[in-house]
Amino acid sequence: IDRDIKLVEEINRLRKEKNAVILSHFYVESELQDIADYVGDSLGLAQAAAQTKADMIVFVGVHFMAETAKIINPEKKVILPDLKAGCSLAESAPADDFAAFKAKYPEHKVITYVNATAALKTMSDIVCTSANAKKIIDSFPEDEKLIFGPDKNLGNYLNSVTGRNMVLWDGACMVHEKYSVEKIIDLMDQYPEAEFIAHPECEQPVLLLARHIGSTTSLLNYTKSSPARKFIVATESGILHQMKKACPDKLFIPAPSVDSTCGCNDCTYMKLNSMQKLYTCMKHEQPEVTLPRDVIEKARIPIERMLEISK
Ligand code: 13P
Ligand code: SF4
Repeated sequence: IDRDIKLVEEINRLRKEKNAVILSHFYVESELQDIADYVGDSLGLAQAAAQTKADMIVFVGVHFMAETAKIINPEKKVILPDLKAGCSLAESAPADDFAAFKAKYPEHKVITYVNATAALKTMSDIVCTSANAKKIIDSFPEDEKLIFGPDKNLGNYLNSVTGRNMVLWDGACMVHEKYSVEKIIDLMDQYPEAEFIAHPECEQPVLLLARHIGSTTSLLNYTKSSPARKFIVATESGILHQMKKACPDKLFIPAPSVDSTCGCNDCTYMKLNSMQKLYTCMKHEQPEVTLPRDVIEKARIPIERMLEISK
């Protein structure tokens, strides 16, 4: 415990000394959320990165999120606790393969989910997150031909809610594609008064069971405003920390995955972040996110378009 208090003190000292801002995603460990200047979903974090006056951004999340912060702030130093904190979705779309896929649809505009590498963003007309995806799709004329990638589950869901027929890249999130419909139905039987809510990266059979579907912020807001007292939550269990904090009297049950032994489903990449690594990265100002200038310039355009539409 003494060691933990010392770490918090040291992180606070470094944050002040270096004029740093700590941005944490809802999926990281609770103490990493509690120490953040801002904790949010990927859209909120990109907006916070766009607005910050700090000299250094410490991104406690995964690599593509830190990369996005760097693209918006090329002049600032952006560091992250662990460079290996990747994302299975971003990895499911290698740049060369995506370029070949895009070349097959020369008339299509490209909407890229933010969970993608900077290289993919350079090939995109606009970026979106799950919080603003519908609004971004709706901003295109109805007859516009569209490609959506890299998440096919989110893409399928968006096709159904917008009535579009976007061509989808075949990628998925290793956390959200593993929820077990059977185990969720069993839980719903066990807790008939509980509401089942899900992130749109889940597969369609899971989404069909959900009372509410949305980004992590949207799921959190839903649990605050719903009169229900119990929720079964199909997204990374880190979000439960904020749900419990906001509504300590409500019960939050992580949705079970097909192969989990712990009953929940964690993102191993998000969980690579730790207080010790946060402290070390702030002390040494590395690992740092760096990108070639031309990549930053090209990737910035679709990200700024997204931020403009999401104001
Ligand atoms: P949000 O944009 O809802 O925070 O989701 C990010 C993510 O990585 C989902 O797996
Ligand atoms: Fe990527 Fe899935 Fe982890 Fe989100 S939960 S960061 S999409 S691997």
